[in-house]
Amino acid sequence: MAITFVVANQKGGIGKTTTATTIAGILGKKYKTLLIDADPQGNSSATYQAKIKDQATLYDVMVDSDRIPLEEAVQHLDNGDIVASDPLLIKAEKLLDGDVEGLYRLKDAIEEVESYDYIIIDTAPALGVVLYNSLIAADRVIIPITADAYSLQGINQLYSTIKAVQKRQNPSLKIEGLLLVKYSGRSNLEKNMLEELKKTAESMGTKLFETKIRECVKTKEAQTANKLLIDYAPNCTTMQDYNELVKEIV
Ligand SMILES: Nc1ncnc2c1ncn2[C@@H]1O[C@H](COP(=O)(O)OP(=O)(O)OP(=O)(O)O)[C@@H](O)[C@H]1O
Ligand SMILES: [Mg+2]
Repeated sequence: MAITFVVANQKGGIGKTTTATTIAGILGKKYKTLLIDADPQGNSSATYQAKIKDQATLYDVMVDSDRIPLEEAVQHLDNGDIVASDPLLIKAEKLLDGDVEGLYRLKDAIEEVESYDYIIIDTAPALGVVLYNSLIAADRVIIPITADAYSLQGINQLYSTIKAVQKRQNPSLKIEGLLLVKYSGRSNLEKNMLEELKKTAESMGTKLFETKIRECVKTKEAQTANKLLIDYAPNCTTMQDYNELVKEIV
């Protein structure tokens, strides 16, 4: 059985896709790894240069009336294996809402798959039914967070969602940790925030990862070029830090 990580934070632009694709890229060099793009924006799919037209996507696995097995939606690409997202996935929020069975679509699909060591799920900046599906399907949650006050404000809401899932649908779901991203390490504000982040993590029964992900301009360039960071800039600071992170979580 694969170990499934979900990268979640309903705040937009915080570093979920960068975290999911980079971790998947690193793990993919050593282990059988699958990335699932559970965000209708499809940023991970773009990074992997995945097909969406004339191609089965997560929509066909989760939402379509003739649903297909997850394996039939996997694309084996140079960057690795991915189940792409489709803008249509936004429909899941309406079509699956209020349907108890609808919360288990992703879990059921993942359970049928046997060939992966790791599955990484990238999620949308929303606390909707697709995120619930992802949290129910996953073993561990990684929460990227930046060192600013706004970032902390949203965390409580995410934590309530995770607690609800742990209580009802997925008791073994574990918050692997809060991951400080886009860290410059230069400002005093950031340093002061570190203590607060540690306390927040503790109050959530988890930790702030020892590894902090520093900023690097190459990260943005890689995303613009639709390349994985591990291939575009294998030695940049951000990449070094994600390598350390993977040692922490594997
Ligand atoms: N370590 C980093 N150094 C520099 N830029 C970064 C770093 N991490 C992320 N970014 C940049 O921040 C922006 C947002 O990152 P990303 O797309 O990973 O966030 P997201 O949480 O997935 O966004 P969304 O909520 O829209 O899905 C991107 O332009 C990305 O390149
Ligand atoms: Mg994203």
